[in-house]
Amino acid sequence: MKIAIIGSGGREHAICQKIYHSKKVSKIFCIPGNGGTNKICKNVEINLKNFEEIKNFLKKEKVELTIIGPEEPLVNGIVDYLNLNELKVFGPDKFCSKLEGSKIFTKKICELKNIPTANFKIFKNVDSSLSYLKEKIYPLVVKADGLAAGKGVYICENFLDAKKAVEEIFDGKFGKAKEILIEDFLDGEEMSFFILSDNKSYKIFNTAQDHKRVFDGDKGKNTGGMGAYSPSNLLNDELEKKIINKIILPTLNFLKENNGKYIGFLYAGLMIKNNEPYLVEYNVRMGDPECQTILPLLNNDFVEVLENCVNGNLENIKLHWKNKKSICVVLTSKGYPQEFKKNVLINNLENITNKENQYIFHAGTKLVDKKFYSTGGRVLNFVTMAESLKQARNESIELIKVLNWENGHYRRDIGHKIIDK
Ligand code: AMP
Ligand code: GLY
Repeated sequence: MKIAIIGSGGREHAICQKIYHSKKVSKIFCIPGNGGTNKICKNVEINLKNFEEIKNFLKKEKVELTIIGPEEPLVNGIVDYLNLNELKVFGPDKFCSKLEGSKIFTKKICELKNIPTANFKIFKNVDSSLSYLKEKIYPLVVKADGLAAGKGVYICENFLDAKKAVEEIFDGKFGKAKEILIEDFLDGEEMSFFILSDNKSYKIFNTAQDHKRVFDGDKGKNTGGMGAYSPSNLLNDELEKKIINKIILPTLNFLKENNGKYIGFLYAGLMIKNNEPYLVEYNVRMGDPECQTILPLLNNDFVEVLENCVNGNLENIKLHWKNKKSICVVLTSKGYPQEFKKNVLINNLENITNKENQYIFHAGTKLVDKKFYSTGGRVLNFVTMAESLKQARNESIELIKVLNWENGHYRRDIGHKIIDK
């Protein structure tokens, strides 16, 4: 069958790679794709805001299944649009995508269904927010409601930090803000927990630990993710049951009660404290770099899994995972997440040979005249599966050292909480 993947990051390259190895696939398109997807699929340059052009392309090429990687087109309703045009799509509908598109929507579900999460309040203007903030104990968390490319969350150490956050959000830094969310700070350890849903049933799709800060020792600014390992060391049977019963099922039930159609990955960002889960946020897609870390561990034919999911037959599928540890180390442009150079040649990339248990997934790269250039902050993902996390991390770092890209930065301590303790 012909398959299209929408997106251009490391997550989408990892999805393309897994699909490429399926017996069921005849041709893969990646819209718009990157330098890495270019090698195994046909990249198609279409603006992801232009649903009509995407639909026309999918129809013309008789694409049988389309997988949506990033959140923005999901929140903007691409699934509803393509479904109306009789195209099969792997991704939740616009209503369900509000789980990621509106943090306030998700918090209201938490309240209604008694889902454990940080205590919160919603405010409609600066004055009422500030009166509340004056009385509170810090740290506190101030959040813009809508999509903000990971930048709309402020962890505030004092009233002045919080005041600045409130003013920036109501000033429209992330688009027009009618409401703001202020919540208590949760301490604990974060875990990314994934499920697959076919709108009738669900399957757990593994776990991972992301590393968001730019420097070793979890220092520096927040990024899109500097690396991850899977599975998470925090998970145990008791915790898994709590996550499903207290968080996932009440959410899926709410969506069903409101006629939502959830087909796709659901990513719960959790805080774990004393083996109790709290919901920090939902994402309506796979994580990045969690996807690059998790997918290589899957033994199933991925297309078979996706097809059954889209057709409402997920119950027929039993997922099989390699009994290995997986680590992804992200190579970024120096300076990211702040200023960084673009269009820097990545010399040598063609000459690197990864071992059978390794993958190099591209993110911000493009291929021009057989040479790779950087186009973004996160550039390459070095994934290794091994018997131990330490071995996996060493092998990923060895590969980065062989590449020796002078514009690159990476963390040497991914997995430090369990490898280096
Ligand atoms: P979000 O986009 O809501 O996941 O927030 C981004 C990051 O901010 C999370 O991954 C956490 O590291 C942090 N964060 C968000 N909300 C809280 C909270 N209530 N307590 C502690 N950390 C939080
Ligand atoms: N790894 C964080 C995210 O995908 O949002």
